[in-house]
This record gives sequence, C-alpha cells and structure tokens, in this order.
Amino acid sequence: MVKIRVFPDRESLYTIIPKGAIGAELGVQRGRNARALLEIAKPKELHLIDIWARNRMFKAVQEVLGKYRQVIMHRAATLEVVVDFDDEYFDWIYVDADHAYKSVNRDLRLYHPKVKKNGLVLGHDFFNHGRDHMGVIKAVLECVADGLYEFMYLTSERWPSYGLRRL
Ligand SMILES: C[S@@+](CC[C@H](N)C(=O)[O-])C[C@H]1O[C@@H](n2cnc3c(N)ncnc32)[C@H](O)[C@@H]1O
Repeated sequence: MVKIRVFPDRESLYTIIPKGAIGAELGVQRGRNARALLEIAKPKELHLIDIWARNRMFKAVQEVLGKYRQVIMHRAATLEVVVDFDDEYFDWIYVDADHAYKSVNRDLRLYHPKVKKNGLVLGHDFFNHGRDHMGVIKAVLECVADGLYEFMYLTSERWPSYGLRRL
C-alpha cells in the first residue's frame, strides 16, 4: 500500500531535505521560497533557475541572494539550462516554474536524469483550478504512472506542495 506523508506546509516538508546537499529551485520569482530553502535545507549549492523576464526583479534577487556563497543564479529557461548539469547532479530540486501541463510534464521529465536516484523532487501548486495552474496534478501523476517517480509527500495548505522520490 502506498503511504503518503502529509506535512502542514512546505517549510515543514523542507525539513526532510538532507542538509549540505546540492539542490535547485526551478522558478524563483522574488526569491521568497529560495530563502526558506536556504535557511531550512542548508544546501551546499543552491541553483536558482528563472527567466526573470523583468530586469528589476532579477537585479533585486541578485542583490539579496547573490551574496550567499551557496547560490548560483541561472537566468534562463529550465529547458535551456538543463544541459549544463551532469546526470545525477542534484540531490533534490523544487519545481515551480511554468504551471501549464506541457511545461510541468517537460520539467519533470527533463530533470529526472539530473536528480540522483532516490533523490527528492518537490514541487508547488498541486491543485487543479485557476487559469494558470491546470497542469500540475495531471503531469505529476502521469510521471508517477510512467515509473519515473514514487509519490511520497504532500502538504495540506491552500497551495499544496508535493514530494516525489526519483526512481
Ligand atoms: C510561481 S513563480 C515562482 C515562485 C517561487 N518558487 C516561490 O515560491 O517564491 C514562477 C516563476 O517561474 C518563472 N518561469 C516561468 N517559466 C519558466 C521557464 N520556462 N524557465 C524558467 N523560469 C520560468 C517565472 O519567471 C516566475 O518567476
């Protein structure tokens, strides 16, 4: 029987991320969640990947988070930058870029070989309403059904996060 562990919020989910590991956030925006990941997961490397369409936002994030020695910023689409990483490079990633079905499906499949076997793939917005968020559940469940991941974790918040084990 599949047992899913439920956390009250994503910050408590981050406590299971191994400390001192290599992680990435796909979709960073203002860097609010990146700060939580830095503080709770204490990665030795945190790759922040975002197109940052607005220069001002990119500069603001760079100013605040760029000063951390663990942070490496990639101003690029997830699809472009993925080739820069060796296979099984990441211990964990957090997927929160474009939420359309096609994009989530693509990110989960593209980054699958880049995450270590048994590594963690976490992601945001596991819900099915709203104009821009219709794709996450379908994409995640299809990747699980295809044997790429095991569904492990969920948060019980308004905008839930999910957690998968990379198979
Ligand atoms: C929902 S926001 C991320 C929020 C952030 N993870 C947080 O919780 O604080 C989504 C971000 O993904 C970025 N984005 C959208 N499509 C992308 C793509 N294909 N590649 C990289 N970044 C993308 C957007 O620029 C935006 O900043």
